[in-house]
Amino acid sequence: MRVTTSAPGKLMLLGEHAVVYGHPCLVTAIDRRVWVTVKRATDGLVHLSAPALGVGDWSVPMARVCTADSPRGVRFLRAVVCCMARCHGLADGLRIETRSSLSDELGLGSSAAVTIAAVTALSEFMALELPSDILFALGLKAVQSIQGVGSGFDLAASLYGGTLQFRPLREATRNLRRCRPDITPLATDHLPLIVGYSGTKADTASLVRHVARRRERQPALTGEIFNSMARLVEEGRGALEAQDWERLGQAMSLNQSLLDALGVSTPKLAQLVSVAEEAGAYGAKLSGAGGGDCMVALASDERRDEVRRAIEGAGGRVIPLQTAATGVRREDIQWTCILKSADPSAPAVR
Ligand code: PMV
Repeated sequence: MRVTTSAPGKLMLLGEHAVVYGHPCLVTAIDRRVWVTVKRATDGLVHLSAPALGVGDWSVPMARVCTADSPRGVRFLRAVVCCMARCHGLADGLRIETRSSLSDELGLGSSAAVTIAAVTALSEFMALELPSDILFALGLKAVQSIQGVGSGFDLAASLYGGTLQFRPLREATRNLRRCRPDITPLATDHLPLIVGYSGTKADTASLVRHVARRRERQPALTGEIFNSMARLVEEGRGALEAQDWERLGQAMSLNQSLLDALGVSTPKLAQLVSVAEEAGAYGAKLSGAGGGDCMVALASDERRDEVRRAIEGAGGRVIPLQTAATGVRREDIQWTCILKSADPSAPAVR
């Protein structure tokens, strides 16, 4: 018996940081995925492998999976196995392998994707038939055990796919059933986005802590910034549903100014945003925690090439991708076939 699942990465469209404090954000799933396969291991150990992250085979007895020090490349997998073992019990002897078309360098949600793919694969492998909100809660517990912070917006995108409005419930409780976020799927399948990588990897947890310190020092001002971001999310949601790209672009650029005010933009991100706007984008902003990773610009078909060239001319790397991708799904029926035929970006299967 083996079970394979895959889950997509994400792009934050509007509302990052404010979402950590209970405000809504907009996020879209992207067509870059992580695949996870679970099967039995005959030696009774838990084997984890992530070849793309330099981990061929790391193994540990199930009884030590929650306490052992694992290599960085399999820490989210280990956290998932630990959570699943604690909440549902896992028999000894598991082999969990990952493949990815989503580089962990770019900040496009590879940790959330591997977490959701692994939680879902284990749930299927053990025939638990866990509902989506429990899969989400287990994923959130696993991620928070590693990062200490996180709203879970990226897990929601990996789980449900499409484009979503996401608002976390602040109560991170021991009762998984009460940890249900507010998720609204938005009816749009195409977003004319251009994604530019700034060349630097961001550290999400330290940026979240930076904003937390600012909020402690200036609670009223920071609260106003978060409220304004929430209004932009509302505005952006209306624009997105009406496919009013000009209005959505304006909301994105205003959101960038607010992120700059929070101190999470960088000179490189600001430069990529401003050259995209000068080249005629409707709007542009950093995407995610800031401090590096990617920016996104929204542009008409006529302006697309110009915006792309402007981003590249300023030293950004344009990452081709599609938005509103399918959420987590089971893949193990003729897995090799599906990988080869359905997704040209899928990794080779050995
Ligand atoms: O850096 P990313 O792409 O993981 O995005 C982080 C977004 C934050 O709002 C800053 C944190 C969170 O978990 O919502």
